[in-house]
Amino acid sequence: MRTIDSLGDLAGKKVFVRSDFNVPLDADRNITDDGRIRAALPTLKRLTEAGARVVVAAHLGRPKGQVNPDFSLAPVAKRLCELLGKEVVLATDTVGEDAKAKVASLNDGELVLLENVRFDARETSQVDEEREALAKEYAALADAYVSDGFGVVHRKQASVYDIAKILPSAAGELVFKEIDSLSRATSNPQRPYTVVLGGSKVSDKLGVIDNLIEVADRLLIGGGMAYTFLKAKGYEIGTSLLEADQVETAKEYIAKATERGVELLLPIDTVIAPKFAADSPASVVDADAMPADQMGLDIGPKTGKLYAKAIAESKTIVWNGPMGVFEFEAFAAGTKAVAQAMQDGDGFSIVGGGDSAAAVRNLGFDESKFSHISTGGGASLEFLEGKVLPGIAVLED
Ligand code: 3PG
Repeated sequence: MRTIDSLGDLAGKKVFVRSDFNVPLDADRNITDDGRIRAALPTLKRLTEAGARVVVAAHLGRPKGQVNPDFSLAPVAKRLCELLGKEVVLATDTVGEDAKAKVASLNDGELVLLENVRFDARETSQVDEEREALAKEYAALADAYVSDGFGVVHRKQASVYDIAKILPSAAGELVFKEIDSLSRATSNPQRPYTVVLGGSKVSDKLGVIDNLIEVADRLLIGGGMAYTFLKAKGYEIGTSLLEADQVETAKEYIAKATERGVELLLPIDTVIAPKFAADSPASVVDADAMPADQMGLDIGPKTGKLYAKAIAESKTIVWNGPMGVFEFEAFAAGTKAVAQAMQDGDGFSIVGGGDSAAAVRNLGFDESKFSHISTGGGASLEFLEGKVLPGIAVLED
């Protein structure tokens, strides 16, 4: 993969950087987790310090090709300015008159942020010619391209893929670090290799389970998806989340794991409550004794200990998806147990996926105690599935 070094001396050159600033916002448009913005800083600092004139492009949400102030990057520009400690000018458009004027007036070492690239329908178009036409307009703003939005490298989009074919292009610091770290789980992982999967749906994780069941030594299942697996074992799961059309698939995974000698661990106990609410009265039952009128909202304490022990014994651990509804204090213990075990152990620990990364930060864990916290949601899953990511393939030598 080409790196920034391959672009030579950047002083005075205009560099178009694609970052992933798709951060969660609250109802007042305050950023609730700025992890992705902080992760973009090494590349932006390196380029500005090298004297480049930096043009940053990013998306926020899915405005579906329409200009919509609810999806403006204004909150990101403000936070980026605070974190970089220097002025960040936000253009009012993406490739229009304001963007062109602001790029033209950049001095060496200065930075402009373009407005949400998804305000232009061509950015995500399925028609190659439409994306290419937009990519040419991006390319006209710069002399070189740096791909640093790891969270979007699985998307074949104008600012991720097509522009890289027009300008001299390279992977930024974040993309390089992500690929370097995630590769430790895909090529010759140190063993035992344990994968912890959670989140609500089995159907979101089919590709990753298919792939990992071939390479991992242990699969630990938690979160909402665990109840579909427990159903597949013939257990009563009450009113818990169930993907009825995935029960057969879950049975096949259980059989395949046994056949391949992969340990597939399911919750042995679970935290239940009458309804999905922060104040719903919680109790703990064994996984095979769930009452018909209650739902499982977290793995139970015995499962937490079992999973923590499996993690502590492992040399490589990949975790994707919370173990329960961690946003509610009463159902956060399972997710905390996994995060704690990962940070206490001495294995190479990778946290992947937007939700698990946000859980780690929001639950107050020290990010530096994990080997790698990925900024990618879909992108890190697709990488672990062994798929070719268009935004990476285009940067290969
Ligand atoms: C993400 O949040 O995972 C990335 O920013 C990609 O966003 P998308 O799924 O809307 O393409």
